[in-house]
Amino acid sequence: MDQCLHCRGLQRLCRFLLLQKFSSQSNFDRKMYHYGTFPEGFSWGISSSAYQIEGGWNADGKGPSIWDTFTQTTNTIPDNANGNVACDSYNRLNEDLYMLRALRVKSYRFSLSWSRIFPDGTRKSLNQKGVDYYNRLIDGLIAHNIEPMVTLYHWDLPEALQKVNGWESAEMIDIFNDYCDFCFATFGDRVKFWITINQPQTIAWSGYGLGNMPPNVKDPGYGPYIVAHNLIKAHAKAYHTYDDKYRQSQGGLISIALNADWAEPKDVSVRREVVAADRAMQFQLGWFAHPIFKNGDYPDALKWQVGNKSEIQGLPQSRLPSFTEEEKNFIKGTADVFCVNHYTTKIVSHVTARLSPASYEYDWDFKEEEENDSPTTAIPNQKVVAWGLRRLLNWIKEEYGDPEIYITENGVATEAQTTWDDSARVFFYKAYIDEALKAYKVDGVTVKGYTATSLMDSFEWLNGYNVGFGLHHVDFSNPNRSRTPKYSAHFYYNIIKDNGFPLRVEICSHSSPNLQ
Ligand code: BGC
Repeated sequence: MDQCLHCRGLQRLCRFLLLQKFSSQSNFDRKMYHYGTFPEGFSWGISSSAYQIEGGWNADGKGPSIWDTFTQTTNTIPDNANGNVACDSYNRLNEDLYMLRALRVKSYRFSLSWSRIFPDGTRKSLNQKGVDYYNRLIDGLIAHNIEPMVTLYHWDLPEALQKVNGWESAEMIDIFNDYCDFCFATFGDRVKFWITINQPQTIAWSGYGLGNMPPNVKDPGYGPYIVAHNLIKAHAKAYHTYDDKYRQSQGGLISIALNADWAEPKDVSVRREVVAADRAMQFQLGWFAHPIFKNGDYPDALKWQVGNKSEIQGLPQSRLPSFTEEEKNFIKGTADVFCVNHYTTKIVSHVTARLSPASYEYDWDFKEEEENDSPTTAIPNQKVVAWGLRRLLNWIKEEYGDPEIYITENGVATEAQTTWDDSARVFFYKAYIDEALKAYKVDGVTVKGYTATSLMDSFEWLNGYNVGFGLHHVDFSNPNRSRTPKYSAHFYYNIIKDNGFPLRVEICSHSSPNLQ
């Protein structure tokens, strides 16, 4: 049932009060370190994704994906880099398992390359060798007590499906569902944590709006909304397939990984700025989370903004498509836990954006700036603003009714040449994980897991190999792609071992060691 206006107003008020509470923190309180541990059984993990690490782009019958085509034909990625070999994980599975074991992670988040399993995107092209590779990986993880956390789709759409218009086409809903159905049936006896789609907002906006990522469709006014609509329905359908056919026998859970920056209002005492920041949260996270976790429908902020802009643009209807009642019921509640990918925080303020050309970005009516007081990283617009994570987690708790939350990506870029000394990453993890701890311990947010990004330096999409997110360095000039732990790997190992940051009482000896 739809919530009444009164409840919605109240919820918005709660979110505003939350902002007031945090924004009035002194700098000292904001930066204060909190000691303590996470709950028993906390899921400590690390992540990767198929195109970024596997290589073997055409090995053993794999079909091309849109990222193969893009990287092999574009010259916009630094050094014209591609994922043809990447970390060569397709041939170096044992090395990957070794690193995971040494880190003592509880879970490993990786993705399946759809076109390695179905080279042309559909079941009739099944490639058994691709299936064998994932079976070996999954069995290797289970043998070492590492839970596989499997993303079904992390951006690498089979090229053959792009030929029928990719996610702009509603046909993709059934095609994706059949691929998921196959994966549940094939791997679900061992995989108990499924993520349907990684960062649908990035797919919709970068892939079909800005067009800077494949399939490079530049249709900023319509593309993102059409694609998001199909992605949401595709996710919901896969969820129901799992629910109807597999859940009872396999007993796993299924969700979707949504990306969310934290949007901090530029001036928390100005209502318009607070509303703009809330709108920023809705345009990025709520676009997907609101239908899935709340009522099957888009957030009011989107419906209002896009509807009004469309009307002023003289269009007969909103560029934001609408769901039927039946579709809303089908979409609502299609995630067992809340999975969020988080990298940075933006300072948000209200603007009245231009009307033309029609664009998702101009529908927002807000602008984003970088946080002044925070360290920069190797990716200039990803500053280290750890306190944003605590606020984001609280916002999710408030907005979506205290779901169980898994942080499914969090990490920082350093220069590619960083080998051992990645102290900037150590600082990043120390600060960010501590903010997750505060959210859990002090604020009562149900944080169930944390996934560091990433296992090793890999192909970083539009940044190629210029930056690395890895806790392990990979020597890309060496045909063996040798992997070496960085300082952060040791640091993360200790956090996992301690289950957080327990307060240690040091017993100090007053006698001088030199005299003993
Ligand atoms: C993607 C990851 C990637 C990270 C850093 C995220 O948005 O999901 O695959 O490694 O960004 O580039």
